[in-house]
Amino acid sequence: MGILLAPGPVYVPEEVMLSQVKEMITHRSGAFRDLYVDLCTRSAKYVDAEEAYVVTGSGTLGIEMCILNCVKPAEKMLVLSNGNFGDLLATTAEVYTNVEKKSIPPGKGWDLEKAKGHVDESDAAVFGMVYNETGYGVRNHAKEIYQYAKKKGMLTIMDSVSAWPSLPMDMKGYCVDFFAVGCQKAIGAPPGAAVIGLGKDAIERIEGMERIPSHYGNLKRHRKTYKEKGQTPNTPAVTVFWAMQRCYDQMDKEGGVSAWVEKHRVISEYVRGRVEGMGLELIPEKGFESYSLTAFKHPKAAEVKKRMAEKYGISIVGCKGDFKDNGLRIAHMGLFDGKNLEIGLDALERVIREVA
Ligand SMILES: Cc1ncc(COP(=O)(O)O)c(C=O)c1O
Repeated sequence: MGILLAPGPVYVPEEVMLSQVKEMITHRSGAFRDLYVDLCTRSAKYVDAEEAYVVTGSGTLGIEMCILNCVKPAEKMLVLSNGNFGDLLATTAEVYTNVEKKSIPPGKGWDLEKAKGHVDESDAAVFGMVYNETGYGVRNHAKEIYQYAKKKGMLTIMDSVSAWPSLPMDMKGYCVDFFAVGCQKAIGAPPGAAVIGLGKDAIERIEGMERIPSHYGNLKRHRKTYKEKGQTPNTPAVTVFWAMQRCYDQMDKEGGVSAWVEKHRVISEYVRGRVEGMGLELIPEKGFESYSLTAFKHPKAAEVKKRMAEKYGISIVGCKGDFKDNGLRIAHMGLFDGKNLEIGLDALERVIREVA
């Protein structure tokens, strides 16, 4: 068996995989209601949301649902991008509204100093950005930016697909109204679901929307079915929900979200140390390094990736966009296995020498 060190879907331990192997239940049963209410209640508590819903689909669905339940065609959304997923956020929003996108080069991180002017100059009603830019392993300093955008009167949407719970989130403190995360990354589950967190202003906005341009993704339906039955409006990925519940149990067992964030911070520091110790240059700007993955440069990235897979059975991935030919990424998120990570880093060290 190989070792998966890609940034999602991430490695899923056997006990989580096995939690899915049970007799199927109907989503109109009490057993499903118990599962779904537990997942939604815990998700909301973890991120300090007013309400949270688990939807069947990938992270993109979660983000798209946040957008389409919030933006209006005649208004504008300001998107700050520093890479592929920031661009994708803008592309998704363009389907539903006018988008004003401001970019900094991939590898650079957004902080309030860089973002402030764009927020000040914008007349957008909605603000959005990516918390952790997965394409280059960049952790944006989102908290201060969201607080500022909110102070300026904007509704706020956050792509947290590869961020939470490797990074902290308290939606009220961060002033995030709409929040989305995929389950196949730092939560550590197999792919197939996204968590949507809603703040008070988000709920008010959704319920006040005259037209929501989606049936499946209409959060009024999700809210109504949850309130009336504690269930989902459509058939959910029941097995993935079981796996997510197992991941949440594990997170609680390890000390909860703050312990989980700290575990990611510590491992990211270790991996960066090992990578730099091999003489490799990190891609993210100093002070903006991701906790959930490490991105670094190598002039023969494709060759390194190929050798890692073929000789050692270790799956790492290249970077996106500007660094697609000379960037590589190693993930350390969710229920990552420290031993496997060590084996992966040792193999990387050998491969780097081989392809020098
Ligand atoms: C930051 C970010 N946003 C959005 C996505 C898209 O998520 P999905 O592939 O689950 O739809 C990803 C996937 O890697 C991501 O890392």
